Amino acid sequence: MENVRPESMARITTPELAEAFINEQVATVKAQVGDKKVLLALSGGVDSSVVAALLIKAIGKQLVCVHVNHGLMRKGESEQVIEVFRNQLDANLIYIDATDRFLDLLKDVAEPEKKRKIIGGEFIKVFDEEASKLEGISFLAQGTIYPDILESDGVKAHHNVGGLPEDMQFELVEPVKLLYKDEVRVVGKALGLPANMVDRQPFPGPGLGVRCLGAITRDRLNALREADAILREEFENAGLNKTVWQYFIAVPDMKSVGVKDSKRYEGWPAIIRAVNTTDAMSATIEEIPYALLHKITARITAEVEGINRVLYDLTPKPVGTIEWE
Ligand code: XMP
Repeated sequence: MENVRPESMARITTPELAEAFINEQVATVKAQVGDKKVLLALSGGVDSSVVAALLIKAIGKQLVCVHVNHGLMRKGESEQVIEVFRNQLDANLIYIDATDRFLDLLKDVAEPEKKRKIIGGEFIKVFDEEASKLEGISFLAQGTIYPDILESDGVKAHHNVGGLPEDMQFELVEPVKLLYKDEVRVVGKALGLPANMVDRQPFPGPGLGVRCLGAITRDRLNALREADAILREEFENAGLNKTVWQYFIAVPDMKSVGVKDSKRYEGWPAIIRAVNTTDAMSATIEEIPYALLHKITARITAEVEGINRVLYDLTPKPVGTIEWE
């Protein structure tokens, strides 16, 4: 398949168009792969999930999915990958809990770019280790989508193949590489993936690692994950998940004085970020109803160990970036 989208290719907007695309790709993948095996790094994000579902339909157990949990996933994400792909779609899924490896390496590292490098580098290392244990893999599947090709060299920055050992020669399988994001979602729904998986907001490769600000500790990471889960639940209940482009919690490495159960309670602040954008180059702030902000504040401060304040970040991009680090 060429790397240029033909002008004649219709935008996939309906289940019928998605079905036609899926049938065409199933045939193409079958012809490309034959009876060989294909390896896929399955992060649980939209693109890799849709590629996994498509390839499971095409070649079933010839696809080997590897899900690396770097310990920086949001609450319930790795569990959902296992539930959907192993339990529901009966995929050949290797699940690796590498939490300790990542968190040990990140201990005392406060500098954002250094944290990113460690997370990216270790991800490739863990994936490579698993890949080299497997026999008879001939192909590597990737969730490359058309904007990746337009914007870069076509290689996914965060799950890239750049780190694979040189003696591992894989041919690439990239069934959605000519699709735009909205089309990938339509195809994912037609493949039967859960709505919260195909409609999910962008989530950075380094995950909660860049939201647990400064040097990551397990207790603060845990507080962040729990607070983020409450924010997501309340936004979903209020229907804001359909209108807000990206929303999350960041927890800085500082404590303030508070009071809980009539006692002094020092805790971290949870900072809410909720932004709208079309291209992530600039972003505006969503006007969240005050009643909802009060409710989220009450829940987070009552339910999350270690958090004693909730703040709302009103800064557009520019001047603030979307992430805090
Ligand atoms: P910023 O913070 O630069 O974010 O305004 C713009 C968009 O990019 C996402 N982001 C990342 N995505 N790896 C990723 O895969 C990263 O290291 C990374 N940093 C930021 C961010 O979530 C937002 O959607």
